[in-house]
Amino acid sequence: MAHISDEKIPNNVNLSGDRRLQRALEKWQPKYLEWWMEMGPEGFQANDIYLRTAVSVEPGGWAHFDYVKMPDYRWGIFLEPQREERVHHFGDFVGQPAWQEVPGEFRNMLRRLIVTQGDTEPASVEQQRRLGSTAPSLYDLRNLFQVNVEEGRHLWAMVYLLQSYFGRDGREEAEELLLRRSGNADRPRILGAFNEPTNHWLSFYMFTMFTDRDGKYQLSALSESGFDPLSRTCKFMLTEEAHHMFVGETGVQRVIDRSCQLMKQDANEDVRAQGGIDLPTVQKYLNLWYTLSLDLFGGEVSSNASDAFAAGIKGRHREGRYEDHSCLEATYTVETVENGPGGTMQITDKEVPMRTAMNEILRKEYIKDCQRGVDKWNKTIAKHGINFELRLPSERFHRHIGIYSDLNTCIDGNPLSAEEWEARKGEWLPNADDEKYIKSLMQRVTKPGQFAGWIAPPLRGINGQPFEFEYVRLS
Ligand SMILES: [Fe+2]
Ligand SMILES: [Fe+2]
Repeated sequence: MAHISDEKIPNNVNLSGDRRLQRALEKWQPKYLEWWMEMGPEGFQANDIYLRTAVSVEPGGWAHFDYVKMPDYRWGIFLEPQREERVHHFGDFVGQPAWQEVPGEFRNMLRRLIVTQGDTEPASVEQQRRLGSTAPSLYDLRNLFQVNVEEGRHLWAMVYLLQSYFGRDGREEAEELLLRRSGNADRPRILGAFNEPTNHWLSFYMFTMFTDRDGKYQLSALSESGFDPLSRTCKFMLTEEAHHMFVGETGVQRVIDRSCQLMKQDANEDVRAQGGIDLPTVQKYLNLWYTLSLDLFGGEVSSNASDAFAAGIKGRHREGRYEDHSCLEATYTVETVENGPGGTMQITDKEVPMRTAMNEILRKEYIKDCQRGVDKWNKTIAKHGINFELRLPSERFHRHIGIYSDLNTCIDGNPLSAEEWEARKGEWLPNADDEKYIKSLMQRVTKPGQFAGWIAPPLRGINGQPFEFEYVRLS
């Protein structure tokens, strides 16, 4: 039978058997709820939402759908079950048993990785907190809240690791995670993309398509970890993350679908005249969120990335696919940007030790995945018989971290002078008029089964329900 405290904090980590941890988490819980009420979704805390709740990690049995008020959501701690024989399978400790405790020499590195990951989770909730008032349908409103409560649970997952394995400074970090604020000048969130406003639904879909997908790759690399509790935590988070990317990928796809319909309805193919989002504007928001998300992987050449790989703490996406798990001898080709004659920038190739290129290797996997999504979007456009292709911009374009951060380029990656960039950036990135236009479309739709005019309905509803189901009870 479940212990009463297991009821308070749902978990599969035998919380009631660890009094110290239980007390720490029970102290943190009311602070978390305070944060949720202050910074979580605005205006819908008392409504019944048709949500999926993780109730266990048994395959197929972990998702339970029912109406729940968000503050009553059963945030809890779920890890993949422990496998006894698990060993380090990359880095310097290959073959040795995976760690169940934090080794002293890697304590700071691990804490930094966990805090950085943990910080992104509440940050995204903060970024999205006002979107509910302009939701294009109840279906979309419910999906937003599903993403929000799960990001809240991801914060719980990281806080569990901090409080279980990092003693006093772990508890301090857990408090700090509730004190930083997305976009706040004095106390910003740690990573750039998580301080950018997500203040309309096109940005929300692009964020869940591209920025949540960065999360997938970070979690995937950490799920390879030789620090076993981190690996098991991240594996379970990945199952939830898949839905967030679904919301983004299908959200943009539905915008595109509608845009194509409207193009054909207008004599001049003027989508804006018909109240839709034209494809060139979709491309601009793609450019913005994709490049912000590329930055999240960190520098192309990084000693931190090398150290984390060497320690067996952060691997590659699906590390098992690779032959060489030491990467001590191997090299990797990256570009370098140097000042050339007459103030020009010259880009050349350079070989670097492979371990130092782990951020870039992970980013390349991410890019492939993004391309797959864009290809699908292009199929939607082609199905309408419209001659237009969306594409991912060059990796050099609009970057703020790493080797391209001082370089201005066009969308194809060809260098531009600072003046050319200023004059032309509005061709590739959303400008003030685009923002104003998109925001003008954001009108709330509250009737079950109805959708705003700028987005097509989804193909199907949630959990086998029809899309006209009452996903959110507004009264
Ligand atoms: Fe997350
Ligand atoms: Fe997510």
